[in-house]
Amino acid sequence: MSTVVLVGAQWGDEGKGKITDFLAEKADYVVRYQGGSNAGHTVVVGDDKFMLHLIPSGILYPGTVSVIGNGVALDPEILLDEMEGLRQRGIDISNLRISSRAHVVMPYHKLFDELQENGDFKIGTTKRGIGPLYTDKVSRTGFRVTDLLDKKIFPETLKRIVEEKNNILDRIYGKPGLVFEDLLDKYQNFGEQLRPMVVDTSLLVNQAIDAGKKVLLEGAQGTLLDIDHGTYPFVTSSHPTAGGACVGAGVGPSKINRVVGVVKAYSTRVGEGPFPTELADETGEMLRRNGDEYGTTTGRPRRCGWLDAVILKYAARINGLTDLAITKLDVLDSLEKIKICVAYRYRDSVLYDFPDSLEVLRECEPVYLEMDGWMQNMEGIRDIKDLPPKAQEYVNKMVELCGVETCLLAVGPGRLQTIVTREVFQ
Ligand code: GDP
Ligand code: IMO
Ligand code: MG
Repeated sequence: MSTVVLVGAQWGDEGKGKITDFLAEKADYVVRYQGGSNAGHTVVVGDDKFMLHLIPSGILYPGTVSVIGNGVALDPEILLDEMEGLRQRGIDISNLRISSRAHVVMPYHKLFDELQENGDFKIGTTKRGIGPLYTDKVSRTGFRVTDLLDKKIFPETLKRIVEEKNNILDRIYGKPGLVFEDLLDKYQNFGEQLRPMVVDTSLLVNQAIDAGKKVLLEGAQGTLLDIDHGTYPFVTSSHPTAGGACVGAGVGPSKINRVVGVVKAYSTRVGEGPFPTELADETGEMLRRNGDEYGTTTGRPRRCGWLDAVILKYAARINGLTDLAITKLDVLDSLEKIKICVAYRYRDSVLYDFPDSLEVLRECEPVYLEMDGWMQNMEGIRDIKDLPPKAQEYVNKMVELCGVETCLLAVGPGRLQTIVTREVFQ
């Protein structure tokens, strides 16, 4: 039995797609457990680049079963588009399975996301309807895939919900309402296209685990975007953390063997919210340029800064990390000096643990440890023995600061630009 959870240890875009694809070669199942099309996971294989939003990043291995779990915010329109895009590129998607319990993103979710973002208070969302979708799920006014497929329940419930949503659109926003018949038609049609792939994915995945298969649970977003543990309210509306993997895949915690935290060798963030180590200078620009730090989903430039080990230590605790997959080390190749934030200075005190209050966080000044850079191109390195000593020191320092050993180091976006330091699957 080998069940591994893979989580983002920062604010998303850590390279989860690349690491998932790498591990998927050995995995029998890859399961997305939360988030929706707000995610953008990039996988580079040779000259081909794939941007995945809803489909698990294991899809490029035809033998691997790709599962969209119950915790995912499933936008059928985007999913069908993504499936078609992959088919056209010759990717076999016959092993894709969709949870009957996943909630369905409707057009009004995207509309409300947009309208809320156009107000005075901005989260900087991806406008993919994620907040409104999970709000409806928790308010018990959402649709699951199984409801969408039900010829009686879906029309009845949709009629009532559309009336409610149209009321809000009219009275709060002064916007025209949605037409029930159009929505019914369009979404029933989507449902029929998805029907052959819809199963009880918790049952499927647990049977696989019991049969001794290798299962990877792929997170979207990152620890600091978690609705409970992130920089609230500048977060997403789901649980990217390891606990979310159990709920969002329907797998009990006793079945999880390892938790891999994917962490970039520096920090980035898209959207609003505090970011203590953000660099608004030439170094920040350089990180954005060298790291090609532009959003996969929205194209927005990512905010860049030094690695924050206070956050890494926090992510290790919240997720119970057993392994680190460190990505984008090559982006630091040309730097003479590299900094790591090891604590925050807050007024007269020094904080070693990540604070809950955003007001405190906004006042925190990073306390930096400065290290020598390795000043060497690492893109071609495939073996840990060939890593420049200074790069090894940097990695060792990351390990020491969070107390978690590495399993993988990435030195480029390509599938092969990956160094294995220890095996993840037993
Ligand atoms: P995700 O959302 O966590 O899957 O990450 P994204 O795909 O949104 O962003 C990570 C970006 O970095 C993608 O463009 C990857 O192709 C790229 N990438 C991943 N690992 C590495 C690496 O080790 N080095 C470099 N230079 N790029 C990487
Ligand atoms: P991946 O899986 C980085 C950010 C948005 C915004 C906040 C809320 O590629 O790492 P939402 O649309 O979820 O309501 O937006 O969360 N965000 C991400 N940032 N990577 C992501 O996904 C993100 N998904 C959401 O920018 O700040
Ligand atoms: Mg991304």
